Amino acid sequence: MAFDGNAFVDEMKNELISSGRGLRNATWIEKVARGEATKEELVGWARQHYWGVTYHTRRFLSVWVGRIPYEMTDDVIENIAEEVLGTEQKNLWGGEGKSHLEWLFHFTRGLGAPDDVIKLATPNADAILSESILFNFAHQRPWYEMIFGALMGIENQIPEAYTKAVKGFEEHYTDILTPDDYKFHTVHIIVDEDHGGGMDELAEKYLDTDEKRRSARAAYFAGAESARRCWDAFDGVKW
Ligand SMILES: [Fe+2]
Repeated sequence: MAFDGNAFVDEMKNELISSGRGLRNATWIEKVARGEATKEELVGWARQHYWGVTYHTRRFLSVWVGRIPYEMTDDVIENIAEEVLGTEQKNLWGGEGKSHLEWLFHFTRGLGAPDDVIKLATPNADAILSESILFNFAHQRPWYEMIFGALMGIENQIPEAYTKAVKGFEEHYTDILTPDDYKFHTVHIIVDEDHGGGMDELAEKYLDTDEKRRSARAAYFAGAESARRCWDAFDGVKW
């Protein structure tokens, strides 16, 4: 029987969801949904996301773009352009686009934290592990593992996780946060949704052996779990 990319992708997603280790169940997301996360915990999450992912995104994607099939390069360059220059924001809404790094600090400034709480923090092991797996995908692993380990394993989970967070902000945080303050999250709900489709087709096109399917599967669960551990290690922020 021919390899069914759709079944392959759905099975992995369902397995992650039923394990409870998806980003939608991350500690800070659950706390925000209940209105229980403190300002310090929210800035702590931002610190984790900065050191574990956002500070490095432009670099690991730029490395990876030199290793992928030529026909995929447009999409990845667009992804980098949005991350660094906000080009998709400009297309969608006109005016200025901001880098995702800027939007992250816009959020933490809205919570009253000085940037140095994040910039001068010593990254913890969970942040370094997250950053390291992303650079490992970019530099060392078979090129397609980034698709399943980072784009599907992390980025595709973002719209749903942030939709839950935004709902929590709207329900419980109106005294400390305005919708402008959490544009980091609303921008990602829109721009990452765009990168959500087509995993089943990519699987069918590029995962043409059992060995590749096994390595894509390993990358998916490792990428998702490393992002989850990174997000959950948000303790220890004060200012
Ligand atoms: Fe981003």
